[in-house]
Amino acid sequence: AQRKQVDRVLALFRLSREQLWACGTRCGLSSMYPMFFIKHLLFPALCMLVEQSPAFSTTEKGNFLALDLGGTNFRVLLVKIRSGRRSVRMYNKIFAIPLEIMQGTGEELFDHIVQCIADFLDYMGLKGAPLPLGFTFSFPCRQTGIDKATLIEWTKGFKATDCEGEDMVDMLREAIKRRNEFDLDIVSVVNDTVGTMMTCGYEDPNCEIGLIAGTGSNMCYMEEMRNIEVVEGDEGKMCINTEWGGFGDNGCIDDIRTQYDKEVDEGSLNPGKQRYEKMTSGMYLGEIVRQILIDLTKQGLLFRGQISERLRTRGIFETKFLSQIESDRLALLQVRRILQQLGLDSTCEDSIVVKEVCGAVSRRAAQLCGAGMAAIVEKRREDQGLEHLKITVGVDGTLYKLHPHFSWILQETVKELAPKCDVTFMLSEDGSGKGAALITAVAKRMQQAQK
Ligand code: BG6
Ligand code: GLC
Repeated sequence: AQRKQVDRVLALFRLSREQLWACGTRCGLSSMYPMFFIKHLLFPALCMLVEQSPAFSTTEKGNFLALDLGGTNFRVLLVKIRSGRRSVRMYNKIFAIPLEIMQGTGEELFDHIVQCIADFLDYMGLKGAPLPLGFTFSFPCRQTGIDKATLIEWTKGFKATDCEGEDMVDMLREAIKRRNEFDLDIVSVVNDTVGTMMTCGYEDPNCEIGLIAGTGSNMCYMEEMRNIEVVEGDEGKMCINTEWGGFGDNGCIDDIRTQYDKEVDEGSLNPGKQRYEKMTSGMYLGEIVRQILIDLTKQGLLFRGQISERLRTRGIFETKFLSQIESDRLALLQVRRILQQLGLDSTCEDSIVVKEVCGAVSRRAAQLCGAGMAAIVEKRREDQGLEHLKITVGVDGTLYKLHPHFSWILQETVKELAPKCDVTFMLSEDGSGKGAALITAVAKRMQQAQK
């Protein structure tokens, strides 16, 4: 009887092919998408740059700074691009952003960022050289220029005040002025999906999609101009940041959201928002698992029916723990040890159930992510009137990289739902900072040509 109760819970996370496909297309990931995308259209200038990406290989060169804010790590990078040889060298430093800064005031956040830049410049011996800078800023923005991005709203773990509705590049420039110690030439601002697509596009011109499966979940892709009503002109393509993490915010995936998803949403910094992201990304999967474990414990099916303080603690299951627990190489005894490290005293049967719960949650995440991807590639194929589409997806993020099953389940799902598309997933090894530097390099060259 106990087994049946556990199975009943796990079954909520099993989605049929039809449900997955419907989820991908229903939310406008297929042919009838506009409104949502329009909000997030990237400025045509940037997209011209994206289109010119093959030109990168020979003409761009120089030293660039890049900032990468919004993933697990905040990084400052120096990117050296050598012309003609397709050679890019990078030096980077990771800085912590304490929780009180992530959720403090906007001024404090940007002062902290500038402090980190100052440390990096010192460390690299670069102060006094106002290098061009590309800013990877991984949050939903309204972009009206290559260096203009108004934050629509914070997502993931950020909630600094006085930023929403403000231009993030202006805030960065003001913080640099406040410090009055060095100058920087901020040339571009991009989303991490775009940076990732650019990085991979540098190697593979077929790369027309950027995917992040990490702390957050998002995707960008190249769309035909003729399909984009709000921008004049029909020629060529343009990059669209889908901000797909926000799908479902209008209720369109409510039928597959479980009570656990709702609990995670209610306990988050942004209730009601980013519903698809909360079912698919690293920041939330552990929380879904924790909610299920609490429920199973309440039902007397786990941990001898005792809900410990630990289990009540938000955020105990980081992605890296899920990845470890789900590793096939791990014996049950080791799973128990991990749970013990987390302060959860489990029996052998408990650890079997915990592993199953983790598996069900991450599998659904990978499948949902695959459903979104399948809808997009299928749409691209139909739009181009092709029997077969060959396309590369540049991808980054800890969930994709570290989880033992996420990436293959994602790929299998895409194959199953979009069999006429031949989709290659290309891991972005150097993060999206490199992409930001490449975009900055092209933008700088174009600026100079216009002078
Ligand atoms: C990094 C990119 O490698 O991956 C970041 O450089 C991106 O721009 C990040 O945000 C996403 O992964 P995670 O798991 O760190 O959120
Ligand atoms: C969140 C952000 C989005 C970003 C994604 C991955 O969904 O809103 O801009 O691309 O996380 O980091």
